[in-house]
Amino acid sequence: MNSSDVYILAIESSCDETAAAVVKNGREILSNVISSQIALHTVYGGVVPEIASRKHIEKINQVIEEALQEAGVTLQEITAIAVTCGPGLVGALLVGVSAAKALAFALKKPLIGIHHIEGHISANYIEHEELKPPYICLVVSGGHSHLVKVTDYGEYEILGRTRDDAAGEAFDKVARAIGLGYPGGPKIDKVSREGNPEAIHFPRAKVGENEYDFSFSGLKSAVLNYLNTCEMKGEEISQADVAASFQKAVVDVLVEHSMKAVKDQGLRDFAIAGGVASNSHLRDALIAACKKEGVHYYSPSPVYCTDNAAMIGVAGYHEYLKGVRHGYDLNAIPNLRLGEEIYAGK
Ligand code: KG4
Ligand code: ZN
Repeated sequence: MNSSDVYILAIESSCDETAAAVVKNGREILSNVISSQIALHTVYGGVVPEIASRKHIEKINQVIEEALQEAGVTLQEITAIAVTCGPGLVGALLVGVSAAKALAFALKKPLIGIHHIEGHISANYIEHEELKPPYICLVVSGGHSHLVKVTDYGEYEILGRTRDDAAGEAFDKVARAIGLGYPGGPKIDKVSREGNPEAIHFPRAKVGENEYDFSFSGLKSAVLNYLNTCEMKGEEISQADVAASFQKAVVDVLVEHSMKAVKDQGLRDFAIAGGVASNSHLRDALIAACKKEGVHYYSPSPVYCTDNAAMIGVAGYHEYLKGVRHGYDLNAIPNLRLGEEIYAGK
């Protein structure tokens, strides 16, 4: 072990995945352990916060131990501990934050709180050494839809955000309405391959004064109205056509806003992040649009798009280099905004 190497033990528990990872020098993923609770929540059609917290408590120590073992790194060899402290479900976040604080205290190692979205964005650095700020990043997950200008590591300017539902939330709600179940995103992605994206024209919402903002609740209502009308008329619906047409409406808007941002800001690099970024149709459409505009396209592998701790470790590395350290009063901040100071202990 080289003494200048930085080993970050990262913990993520903001929603329904208990995850821990060991990341070397901000890029080398020595381990990335994810214990998913999806099967547990499927019966309820979505994440039940109390169940999520309880499961995180049961799993967290085991997941951390596994991550260390797989990485072949001992707790003593860890340089610092990074943990997602917001946004997310407060009870779920608290489990990771408490575990990180306990370890940092016992080992006398630096503690670094990380914004969950900063983690998602940082996932792009894992496989793309050449990607450096500034660039535009489209962040689309179950809880967030943001169009962000990454001005430096850990420095963000939010150009646009959703006014209502997040993109992933819309995927999940529409999937439930057409009987695909939870989690909806991957299921819509798959079933759309058999559908016609032009079969039904769903609206592409334009939002008031900020042309980078998104709105997906109108689209969700349009799908529900379409389903109701079909039911009233006694017409069969094609699950694949509805899924493909809905998805096309989401993808069109995401691509249009992203390319506008890239052009307006005069940047040549574009990245995507978050669970919805693993959508194969969105990726294909963005690759084509970037090619047309002569812009470099970057995306993490799907495993680094959905919630994981490796991305928190990468973000933690950059914050560590900047000298960011948090105190033992670090707390779970369920509504933490991107770029907002995580003030504890500063
Ligand atoms: O980033 P993530 O794992 O958790 C949050 O931070 O929210 O994102 C989860 C979201 C869910 O809404 C899920 O349906 C969506 O990402 N998702 C997808 C795909 N895979 C996951 N949406 C569309 N297509 C996919 N292939
Ligand atoms: Zn996430």
